[in-house]
Amino acid sequence: MPRTSMFAELDQIQSDALSEIAGIDSDAALEDVRVRFLGKKGRVTAASAGMRDVAPEQKPAMGQKLNEVRTAITEALEVKAEALTAARDAAAYAGIDVTLPGRPLPKGSLHPLTHVLDKAVSVLRRMGFAIADGPEIETEWHCFDALNTPADHPARNESDTFYFENGKLLRTHTSSVQIRTMETEVPPIRIIAPGSAFRRDEIDATHLSAFHQLEGLYVDTRVTLADLKGTLEFFFREMFGNETELRFRPHFFPFTEPSFEVDLKFHAAGRESKWIEIAGCGMVDPNVFAAVGKTRGDAAYDPEKISGFAFGMGLDRLAMITYGIPDLRLLIENDVRFLRQFA
Ligand code: DAH
Repeated sequence: MPRTSMFAELDQIQSDALSEIAGIDSDAALEDVRVRFLGKKGRVTAASAGMRDVAPEQKPAMGQKLNEVRTAITEALEVKAEALTAARDAAAYAGIDVTLPGRPLPKGSLHPLTHVLDKAVSVLRRMGFAIADGPEIETEWHCFDALNTPADHPARNESDTFYFENGKLLRTHTSSVQIRTMETEVPPIRIIAPGSAFRRDEIDATHLSAFHQLEGLYVDTRVTLADLKGTLEFFFREMFGNETELRFRPHFFPFTEPSFEVDLKFHAAGRESKWIEIAGCGMVDPNVFAAVGKTRGDAAYDPEKISGFAFGMGLDRLAMITYGIPDLRLLIENDVRFLRQFA
């Protein structure tokens, strides 16, 4: 092809392409133009085949022209594509007043139990307790036997505990985490285990069948009852204020000896001060160490060499006292009118 006619041909292709692109109003039509001009069998591609016949000294100029045409068409396609998108967006916005304020999303807040748990954990962590965990579906061994609770103990009764067919059960307390921890860690141990516990209780204002506990365990050489008292006194005063009084009442738990129930009397403006039972505790029973030693197969928990204290309390009850909540069921009903008060 002579030089001038190829030049003219390319000019023609470019002006055809640009005028077609100018009139386009859809992405599909735009793609069609791209294929017809720049595609494998497109006009630009076909024209470039003519380069073969161009005299060698004219090749650079012709090559440059070819590139200019290709670039011009490519750019026109891009500009058009952007214009089409912008037009589509504008159509979508049409009728929307973007200057109106947004609709507020309802803001959630922490559950009162979470508030109480966070506070309790932060106080106990300051005293060096680390968080430990265990499964909610437990073995009888971890929930009862290893905790020195014999087969005929009332807590193990069908009517008190949710059993599975495979013999496992929903843990009735978080004390099982004591065993789990001692089976895998050596003393000294200082752990707290917050978590759910389950009992076949009739649900009423002071009982839930799924509730929350906070367990504590401290095992080392020469741990004494004085350590236990000091720890719980510090803990409850941090939780409820320095005026808080504590009373340790002798009690019985299979896994501690001696055992106590802890009553608390705290003073809050506008509220009656009376003794409230708040926790169970005691010195870890040597039989518990012996049971742990049996699974471990070592002497890490030799009851002659180590001692420890344990405590357990109901978190739901802690929340009730902290906030003056009269009925435990409020904690699980998810009524936002109730929950909003703790935001
Ligand atoms: N596990 C007991 C319960 O659920 C509470 C408890 C009492 C835990 C004494 C302890 C403890 O660790 O030493 O009623």
